[in-house]
Amino acid sequence: MEILGIDIGGSGIKGAPVDVGTGALAADRFRIPTPEPSLPDAVAAVVVEIAQHFNWRGPIGCTFPAVVKNGVTLSAANVDRAWLGADAQNLFARETGCPVLVLNDADAAGIAEMQFGAGKDRPGVVLLLTLGTGIGSALFVDGLLVPNTEFGHMILPRGSEAEHWAADRIRTEKDLSWKKWARRLSEVLTCLEILFSPDLFILGGGVSKNHDKFMPLLKVHAPVVPARLLNEAGIVGAALAAKDLVTQ
Ligand code: BGC
Repeated sequence: MEILGIDIGGSGIKGAPVDVGTGALAADRFRIPTPEPSLPDAVAAVVVEIAQHFNWRGPIGCTFPAVVKNGVTLSAANVDRAWLGADAQNLFARETGCPVLVLNDADAAGIAEMQFGAGKDRPGVVLLLTLGTGIGSALFVDGLLVPNTEFGHMILPRGSEAEHWAADRIRTEKDLSWKKWARRLSEVLTCLEILFSPDLFILGGGVSKNHDKFMPLLKVHAPVVPARLLNEAGIVGAALAAKDLVTQ
């Protein structure tokens, strides 16, 4: 069965049909830059364009970089404030004419990694962080997701918000060496380790392809592994999460 997965990010909106049995993309990804400002109607128009590109008539799973409850976006850390309280799910469903499920982007990436990537067959407490413009988080307990954890907004003992201290955007903006950035990231991981004693950390986001540069420098007790699905995780996870729409 194929479901269209769409990943809404700060710079690009990407989509592809996903074979939810294997987690493989059934066609090449189609990407459109995120409109600026990223107002709900403008983003919905891009979602429609992606669905039309694939001539899509079936269910759609869609990520969003915010707290998402029952399809409503409840935070707006790195997106336009017009999304606060917006019913993204209804908006996208109305505009595309397809059944749509909307979920947090990191939760989607986590779902994909747990099923087909670095978290496959890993029981216990697994914590995935996505390192990009912000820090996204997805917490799993024996494979079950605790949604909308938002650990990127945790306040570190030094008084900074985790994503303002150690997101990949901070590394590039401040031109931090891998060593310096790894020290910052270790602070975040240590806090999370104190709180949740995870059995495994999975680190995703574009920077995870450079894992050999910073992961060996991290100082934390739990094993840390790179995500495997790289920039496909959001698309695949969104499609997997939307599987239930088919049986509704
Ligand atoms: C948002 C999260 C999102 C993360 C990664 C954070 O700023 O609050 O919802 O998962 O960025 O995009």
